[in-house]
Order: sequence, then structure tokens, then C-alpha cells
Amino acid sequence: MKKKILVFGHSGNLGSNFVHFLKDSYKFILNVHETKIYFSNAEYIKFKKNDFSNKLDYLKKKIKEISPDIILNTAASVNLDFCEKYPERSVFANVILPTRLALICRDLKIKFVHISTDHLYKSIRPFKNESFSVKKVNNYSSQKIKAEKNIKKINNKALIIRTNFFSHKNNSDQLVYKVQNFLKNKKKINLFNDYFFTPIYSKYLVKIINFLIKKNFNGIFNVVSNERVSKYDFCKILVKEKQAFKDFVVVSKIKDSNLHTKRCTDLSLSNTKIRKILNFKIPTLSSQIKEFITNDKKILKDLSVNFPYGRHSINSKDLNAVKKVLKSGSLTQGKFIEDLENEVCNYLGVKYSIAVSSATAGLHLSYIALNINKNNKIITTPNTFLSTSNAALFCNSKPSFTDISSETLGMCPEILDQSLKKEKNIGVVVPVHFGGLAANSKKIFNISKNRGLNIVEDAAHAFGAKYECGAKVGSCKYSDLSVFSFHPVKILAGGEGGIITTNNKKLYEILISLRSHGIRKDDQVKNIKTGYTNKVKNIWYYEMNKLGYHYRQTDIHSGLIISQLKRVNQFLKKRNQLTKIYDQEFFNKINIKLVQNQFRDLSSNHLYVIKIDFKNIHINRNDFMKKLRKYNIISQVHYIPVPMQYFYKKLGYSMKYLNNTKDYYNQCLSIPLYFDLKFNEQKYVIDSIKELTKEI
Ligand SMILES: Cc1ncc(COP(=O)(O)O)c(C=O)c1O
Repeated sequence: MKKKILVFGHSGNLGSNFVHFLKDSYKFILNVHETKIYFSNAEYIKFKKNDFSNKLDYLKKKIKEISPDIILNTAASVNLDFCEKYPERSVFANVILPTRLALICRDLKIKFVHISTDHLYKSIRPFKNESFSVKKVNNYSSQKIKAEKNIKKINNKALIIRTNFFSHKNNSDQLVYKVQNFLKNKKKINLFNDYFFTPIYSKYLVKIINFLIKKNFNGIFNVVSNERVSKYDFCKILVKEKQAFKDFVVVSKIKDSNLHTKRCTDLSLSNTKIRKILNFKIPTLSSQIKEFITNDKKILKDLSVNFPYGRHSINSKDLNAVKKVLKSGSLTQGKFIEDLENEVCNYLGVKYSIAVSSATAGLHLSYIALNINKNNKIITTPNTFLSTSNAALFCNSKPSFTDISSETLGMCPEILDQSLKKEKNIGVVVPVHFGGLAANSKKIFNISKNRGLNIVEDAAHAFGAKYECGAKVGSCKYSDLSVFSFHPVKILAGGEGGIITTNNKKLYEILISLRSHGIRKDDQVKNIKTGYTNKVKNIWYYEMNKLGYHYRQTDIHSGLIISQLKRVNQFLKKRNQLTKIYDQEFFNKINIKLVQNQFRDLSSNHLYVIKIDFKNIHINRNDFMKKLRKYNIISQVHYIPVPMQYFYKKLGYSMKYLNNTKDYYNQCLSIPLYFDLKFNEQKYVIDSIKELTKEI
């Protein structure tokens, strides 16, 4: 069975690399401070600062429950200036935490591994060994010395590592990345050629710590490279862009600098003790650096896995599909557009479809085709993306808004009925299938048709969704036109793109023409004189007979969407599974309320939204989202109600009579939902949200 390691500081420069390199060797339990990195096999726990202050018994009990074999402490407050300025704030991480852990480990017979530093000396003698006398140079060094002393006194089985390392963790506090960022931004940077150290690549540091743990060594070990280099020379080997290095690096001397915090100028440690016991050789610094550079991109990627609210899924068949278009000879106005239109018609069970450049374009053309203009209006819901109503503004028409149903988050038939009694000059009703749910479509259809109104469904989210009767959204069973989006976060990703569907031939013909400048190429041209020779239409002749737009889709987009369509049922199934797991996990919580959960089997499940009682958890939504980001979870708000937008406010819109929307908006948050989200990744998201909403 794998040994259990409880790690403090897992998201730091060494902690993250330690877990990465040994993820298959141990069972990891990672303490979460403010940031969190996703590791597929790890478990997470959250100790609070209070847990460490007084109640040692409580803490001991908590750690006993976890029952780790090893506790690794890589947590520290390492910014020298910060420690100098606020010693009372850095003392917790640098002294109190390690001391307490050492004590608990002694009492519970857990192996304690503590990461110290090379910043422990006043003397500038090179290659100091483990018994060289330590002396405070600044607050940081004094705190690290204190921690070492405490640990040694309390726990003679503890392992203390003195080191200086370079690791895969792209933040500015690491010299490696700091220099690269300066060079990238063509900014000058000073590097000292009289400030020495013995840095080791985290891969070898981790390997050696693992070796020491396995062989159960105690006491202090210097774990560093064989070579002593200046900061300048180290970076010179490391930076690939030699010319930029020459241009932007300024060689300077620490002795001439006016750094805020005093430093010892030779941090180099002797690794003789460790070399004697190791059963492998520490590679030369230059080969370590080479290896670091080779691994860097991939490891940084592994360490920054994040979870957006939505993401497209592209496989090799999609890549081939696009390649096929690129090789076909026509990038636009070719056969792939027609192929897509046919396939969509077959899938949805509808007579006609018109591929367009976006759903926004599709909505605009639909409103034009249904004669929306300055004298009439569309009516839609405020809980939508701007496109739904902007497309009406494009037609010089002022859209109207009717409140949503709190249950479906889409159009509410009863409220619509009331709105239509009050509103004049409505020409088109536009239900938005929010999140992929087309609830109440039949009722909305009947209410609208009884008044002789047309219906355009904003089905941007709803590819693959069904009505209560089982027919697919897009079959136009309850509408004149349906409009879908192929924006990448949607069910099918086309890059950009949209499609309109209809069973009405006349509308179809108008839309085909409007999509391409209002041009007709068929035989129904008006200008017989120029269009015809001997009563036969001229092969070169094209005729614009109304003002149209350039809203065509390219074959490249169509090719990709055709390929995505082949997987649509897989996409829908996985989304459905994920939503049901979320529903189960968030059911009956005090601070989280489920929405749309009664309708998962009808919906295409484009979004997973929860309502959070931010007041009750004493945090505003923005700070909550920021906390989620520190866990690499990227949430979003769908939507800022359209009438609240600055532009709309200036047009005179307000949220009067839109209370359901307002109430929903104040609490909503969309959390990750996409085909490639793995179930154990989803668990990470769920646990993080439960933790931050105080549900665990
Ligand atoms: C409800 C709704 N309608 C319309 C659109 C516009 O889609 P597109 O980006 O394809 O123009 C979006 C896009 O997010 C949307 O969410």
C-alpha cells in the first residue's frame, strides 16, 4: 500500500513539484491555504490558522484522523522584504507551523520532513557544511534558524533539508521566470555576479528527499548541486535567448546595491554529506538546467490545469475534418455548407436550415425576415446574452422584456400573457432557451399564435434539447424560426457560426438571400433585360433585390461543425451525467440552491448554474469567484440582465417588473460543465465549491 503524505504548502514552488514528481509513489493529502492545484489522485484538507494557535489536542486529533505516515512542510513565508517589514506576519508560516507540526509528529510517530533554506549564515565562506554555525542576517534567516532549532529540540526523528532550488512554477518570485519575463518584455534586469549559491533542480531535490524518507534518515542535510555559481552565471546558462540576455541583462554587484533587506552574499552549501549516502549521482548543474528546460512547458501545463465554466472538445477527427476542407479547394461558398445544412435538417427533423456566421447574425436575419422594424418590436427575456435584443436594435426596433420563470429561467407563459396584454406593436416573440432548456414552448407558442405573433427561438444554447413532447428543438414545432450558435462553449463548437432552421419555404428563401448581400442567383430575377439572353438567364448574372448582409459561414467552420455533430449524442449524454452528479451533491444545501434540476433530460445542459446565498456566507460574488480562481476554477455569471447594461439604461430601460430576473441574477453562478470534464475533476470542483460555501 502507498504511504500517505500530508503536505503543507502544496501549491508553492517546491510543494507543487514534489507532488508532481511523486504523484504515483504516495497517497497525497494536500492542505489548502489560499491556493489549490489540481492533482488527479490527491485529496484535499483545509486546516485553518486557528487550528494551530492554541488547541494542540484538537489539531492532533484532526491529524490522527488523517493518519499520515509522513508530514512534509514546504510552506514558508519566503519574501525577505516582507519578513523584514512584518515579522509578526511571517512568524506563523516560518516558525509556529513547523514547530507545532514537529511536536505532533513526535507524539503521533509520524515522520516529519521540513524544508529549510540556505539563508542561515553571516559568513561568506563558500560551501558551508551542515555543522557550520548559523547566524541571523535578517528576519527571514532568524525565523528559519528558530524553526530548525525548535524542530531539532522537539523531534529527533525529523528530517530537515537545507536547500536552494529552481522549480517549475511560473510566478515572478522565482528567478528563472523573472528573468525570462523581463527579457520577453524587453526590460532591463540587474543580475549579481558576486552573489553565490548552489541551486538544484526540483526534480533532483525531490528525488533526494524521497531517498532520505525511504531510508528513514534524520537530522539536517544540505541538498544542493555540486557547483557554486553566481546568480548572473546561473541565468546565463539558463536563458536560451542569448542575444536578449546580452541586450537586457545588466551585470551588477550586490555589494553596490541598496537592497532593502540585508543578505549573506554566499549562500553556497556543501553537499558532501548527502553525496556520501546517495546511491545515484547528482547531475552537473548544466545538465540539470538542460533537463529543466526540456520539461518546463509540459510540467507547467500539468500544474496549471484549470476548469472553466465551459470548453469545447476537439479530437483528431475534428482536425482531419478541417484539414479535408482546407484541401478541398473551396474555403467558402463550397459544398460543406450545404452538407452541414442537410445534416442539421436530418438530425433535428426540420425542412430547411440556413448556415450563418453566428447566432447573432441568425437572429438579425430572422427579425428582418419577419419584418421587425422601427414600428414594431420583439419581446424576449432579460436573462440572455446581448445578441437576442441587440439584433432587434439593428433593425431600429426597441425590444421589450418580459420576466423569467424562476423555475425554468426562461420565458414564463403566464407573465408573457400579461406582458402581451400591456405591450403594443409586438411582432415577434423570442423565447430564450437558457442553458439549453426549452420548457413551456407549447404554451408560449399558443399564447403567441392566438395573437397572430411570430416566434423566433433563441436556441443558441439548445442544440440537442427536446420539448416536453419529445420533438427536438429546432424542428420548429413551436416556432417559425429557431437559431443556434456554434460558438466554442456551446454544445457544438465551430469556432464561430450559427444556423437558422425553419419549415417555411418562403422564409427560407428570404434568409438565403439576406445571408449573402440580398443576392438571388435563381431564376426569379427582376431585371429581365440584363439578366437574360434569348430568354435564358445569363450564367454570370447575379441580382441584388433587397438589402442583405455578408453573414455567410465558411466551409472551414461548416466542416468542423459536421464533424462535431457526429459526437452530439455523446456530448449530450456526458453533460447530462455531469449535471445529475452536481444535482446530487448540491441537493438540500443551505447556501446552495439548485436551478433547472427538474429538466435535465429535456435540456441540452449547456450551462450548470447554481444559486449561492452570498449574504449568508459573508462574501460577495466577486470575491467568491476570485477564491475559486485561486483553485483554478473559472466561474461566470449568466447573465447580467440586458436592461441593466449601461447602453440599455441610457436607452431608458430598467429592471422594473423584472423581479424574478433580478433575484436570480443576484445569486447565480455558472460552474464548470463540458464534455471533457472528467468525473474526478468534477469532484475537485464540487469539493472546492462546498468548502467555499461552507457546506463542509
Ligand atoms: C442566448 C444567446 N443568444 C445568442 C448568442 C449569440 O451567439 P453567437 O456568439 O453565435 O453570435 C449567444 C451567445 O453566447 C447566447 O448565449
